[in-house]
Amino acid sequence: VTPTDLIARKGLPDELRILADRYPREAWRGHANFNGLTAFWLDRHAMFRALLERLRAETGGFAEQGLEARTYAMRLHRFAGMLIGDLHGHHSIEDQHYFPLLAAREPRLQRGFELLDADHHQLHEELDRLTGDTNAVLGAIQAALAGQEEARRLGDTLARFETFLDRHLSDEEDLIVPIILEHRFEE
Ligand SMILES: [Fe+2]
Ligand SMILES: [Fe+2]
Repeated sequence: VTPTDLIARKGLPDELRILADRYPREAWRGHANFNGLTAFWLDRHAMFRALLERLRAETGGFAEQGLEARTYAMRLHRFAGMLIGDLHGHHSIEDQHYFPLLAAREPRLQRGFELLDADHHQLHEELDRLTGDTNAVLGAIQAALAGQEEARRLGDTLARFETFLDRHLSDEEDLIVPIILEHRFEE
């Protein structure tokens, strides 16, 4: 594990903040080069964060507060399916389309895109764990076993995943939005 690995990182390293320091978050949306696609992309990130928060709340509700098993199972199936499927799609578009485009415009930050790409690999491993833990809960409920123990384990996995995902999304935004503002991309 190196200091820039997702599991150890506390933010973008200084050498990758050459644009981030010039374009603070508060000024993003008011900038003339902030476009609709960027707003849409940030909204996707907000949606992933909200989905994860909802999953954690539902899972806690079932494990600790007696939320009814069928109701929980339906919501878990739906929200976990959305999170896992949409995140995979989101990462593929970034890897295949956006990252090469952005890196070409700002070669000084190439290392940042390597870092984000490594994050995606790490997150996919975490997503596999999340999928396994989700299926364990659904299987237990389906088999009319209690499922609370499995749900607690899923709750721990969700908490861990949330930390990693939040780090990734924040650093990705800090790397990418300033590049868009600096170089102006047509939609
Ligand atoms: Fe990403
Ligand atoms: Fe992203």
